[in-house]
Amino acid sequence: MKFHIALIPGDGIGPEIVEEAKKVLDRVAEKYHHEFTYEKLLMGGCSIDAYGTSLTDETLNRAKAADSVLLGAVGGDVGNSRWYDIDPKDRPEAGLLKIRKGLELFANIRPAYLYKELKDACPLRESIAEAGFDMVIMRELTGGLYFGERKTEEINGVRKATDTLVYDENEIRRIAVKGFEIARKRKKHLISVDKANVLDSSRLWRTVVDEVAKEYPDVTVSHMLVDNCAMQLVKDPAQFDVVLTENMFGDILSDEASMITGSIGMLSSASLGATKLGLYEPSHGSAPDIAGQNIANPIATILSAAMMLRYSFDLDEEARAVEDAVQKVLTEGYRTVDIMAEGCTRVGTKEMGDLITERI
Ligand code: IPM
Ligand code: MG
Repeated sequence: MKFHIALIPGDGIGPEIVEEAKKVLDRVAEKYHHEFTYEKLLMGGCSIDAYGTSLTDETLNRAKAADSVLLGAVGGDVGNSRWYDIDPKDRPEAGLLKIRKGLELFANIRPAYLYKELKDACPLRESIAEAGFDMVIMRELTGGLYFGERKTEEINGVRKATDTLVYDENEIRRIAVKGFEIARKRKKHLISVDKANVLDSSRLWRTVVDEVAKEYPDVTVSHMLVDNCAMQLVKDPAQFDVVLTENMFGDILSDEASMITGSIGMLSSASLGATKLGLYEPSHGSAPDIAGQNIANPIATILSAAMMLRYSFDLDEEARAVEDAVQKVLTEGYRTVDIMAEGCTRVGTKEMGDLITERI
């Protein structure tokens, strides 16, 4: 099959890790007789340098026209970069929000899985790490506080800032449907996370999730308050299968879930909408402090490419081949520095990419 992929390397370690994911995709194309074509696009700080803004409309349109988008990471050192001395609407993060909204990617899937080989890197008590966990955080991505009206004003000499949290039932329903569909392909257990004891938006969220649940009688559903969820994630992560939640809660909880897997360098993510077009990116940032040193872990980006094969191209077998290859290099003891442990072999970004490619 033929697919056209927009590659957005971005800033910091982005270009290095996207290069390794491309290597893996090329190997998949060769082995399974597909044709992948690529187009590199600028987003983030590199786009600010070139065009004065982190994502131009032209670039957004090119991304829209592709079959799928693979992103490295955008942004620089916030306290210490010219990219943050400009209007907030042109800064690196604004580009990320603009592409999510522009491609209507309302569903963000962030898997958090503890590899047996990385148990020692898990910061939780040994008995909890021993039990392991395998969950996905399903985060609403184009609504809520991130996209509600906001303003900063001064009233009678007092500065005041407002952000609004808005959801309509259609926005909740479509992400809930995605959540239940994913749960159906997994352990059929969905926990919806909200703050229904305080927020109206959460009460509507809960009501709509319960309505959608009626169409999925094979999936068990329960509700959990977000503060309790933050606690349960470190107390008993094995209880989670699919966690369905709104944008801001999902942002926070997905960082927590990623930390307990031992390294954020392992976590992939997929942002999906109503069509097959998706945006795939590692859950981690651009790590400018280690850029260009061939030490970044490319696995999260490679696993994101695997998600692209599965969700955008329906190439399940190929996706599994990539995931199995990652598992193999870990079992064989190869590690980048972020997941290095005693008795293992330390390798760089490129070497890790090669090792995975050779095992497909
Ligand atoms: C994420 C990031 C972004 C977000 C930032 C960079 C705007 O934290 O993808 O989780 O908050 O969504
Ligand atoms: Mg985040």
